[in-house]
Amino acid sequence: MQQVVSSTSRVEGVALLPGDKSISHRAALLNSIAHGESHVSNFCEGDDRESMLRCLRGLGAEITKHSSCPIAGSFECFRIEGRGPYALTEPQAVLDAGNSGTTMRLVTGLLAAQPFFSVISGDSSLRSRPMRRITEPLVEMGAYIMGRSNDSLAPLAIRGGSLRGIEHEMSVASAQVKSALIIAGLYAKRETTVHQRSSSRDHTERMVRAMGGDIRTDGLTVTVRPSELSAVDVRVPGDISGATPWLVAACCHPNGRIRLPRVGINPTRSGALDVLQAMGARIRMQNVREEDGEPVADLVAESSDLSATEIAGELVPRTIDEIPALALAACFATGTTVIRDAQELRVKESDRIHATVSGLTALGADIEETQDGMIVRGGRALSGTVCDSFGDHRIAMAMGVAGLLASGQTIVTGAEAADVSYPGFWQTLHRLGSGRDGS
Ligand code: S3P
Repeated sequence: MQQVVSSTSRVEGVALLPGDKSISHRAALLNSIAHGESHVSNFCEGDDRESMLRCLRGLGAEITKHSSCPIAGSFECFRIEGRGPYALTEPQAVLDAGNSGTTMRLVTGLLAAQPFFSVISGDSSLRSRPMRRITEPLVEMGAYIMGRSNDSLAPLAIRGGSLRGIEHEMSVASAQVKSALIIAGLYAKRETTVHQRSSSRDHTERMVRAMGGDIRTDGLTVTVRPSELSAVDVRVPGDISGATPWLVAACCHPNGRIRLPRVGINPTRSGALDVLQAMGARIRMQNVREEDGEPVADLVAESSDLSATEIAGELVPRTIDEIPALALAACFATGTTVIRDAQELRVKESDRIHATVSGLTALGADIEETQDGMIVRGGRALSGTVCDSFGDHRIAMAMGVAGLLASGQTIVTGAEAADVSYPGFWQTLHRLGSGRDGS
């Protein structure tokens, strides 16, 4: 499917965001192994959600859509019947994680602790993504895991069972790896300690703690002890990764103003806000509050004069899914923006360094690919052309917003990729950008 995006004289309006994907996934998985019934409202939308639910249901979890949610103000709500940590059952077929790395890695952590055989796989993109980072420590904990290419790629075949806690030094800053080990650690004998290189999203730690799990964070070290969890209701905040393309659209357009109610602003996720504000973006945070253990705010972004910045080091894991959109913002900034230490982008749903640079180059940007990031010399006007999503939702969304900011018409091919995390993305884009052609 392709989308045609036209230059617009105005980018304006309110966008209601899908629920945060990372929080929704954790709420579904952890409540499935907790004791008691829970409701998760404003659950994320899109193909990745179906991937997580399909895998959990394949293990016998009872998760149903709930039409009259008891949680106020909810959009889509799911009811989960938690029957405790030992109620999952051996799957009858291969578990299909689709395009979702979070599903594959978190569910593998869970499977490593189950006393049965299972196989988990995914689409061709997921089957090419590195899994040794989880299989190695999970095998050290006592699970039997085999995979393609010398156990480094899915499909993964797992016979789990009695695990022992380990102390693990993470080689990459990855919340998916950390979370897989925390989930396995809930079942392991003695404690499991994970040392991170730099901090990554901490939704798992927050939720395990809220559910009564024995988990401690000390700087970059997380320690979990065997625990049984109690179910909790979760009101999922809007996804900051889905918010970022709109922030960029509003700030980079000369006539932009977008309001985003109820966005999750967890500090381990809000790097994009920090980067844009450091660039001079006019973004206001209103009604900052905490909901179910996660900080939330309403955001308002307006046309801004941006200047270049650097994204490196500890900022990278805090902006990891937002970098394609931030690279687009850098095209509108004065000066040269350098993005480095971001080699993880090469093993996401696509090689996001290559995909971002080729799309923005086609649009006329002055942008250069480096081994671990990119260099963007801002200030060159973009003009509409054909850009591909590379089958990656984040690239599809960044290119869609680029189309609003470029002159003329931009055609985004493979636009359906946005459905992975944001099914209403294109409708929202056309609505926010419905000003008359300003080219
Ligand atoms: C996620 C963690 C990040 C991110 C992904 C979601 C999560 O991956 O890119 O979209 O929910 O834990 P890594 O932890 O592998 O960097």
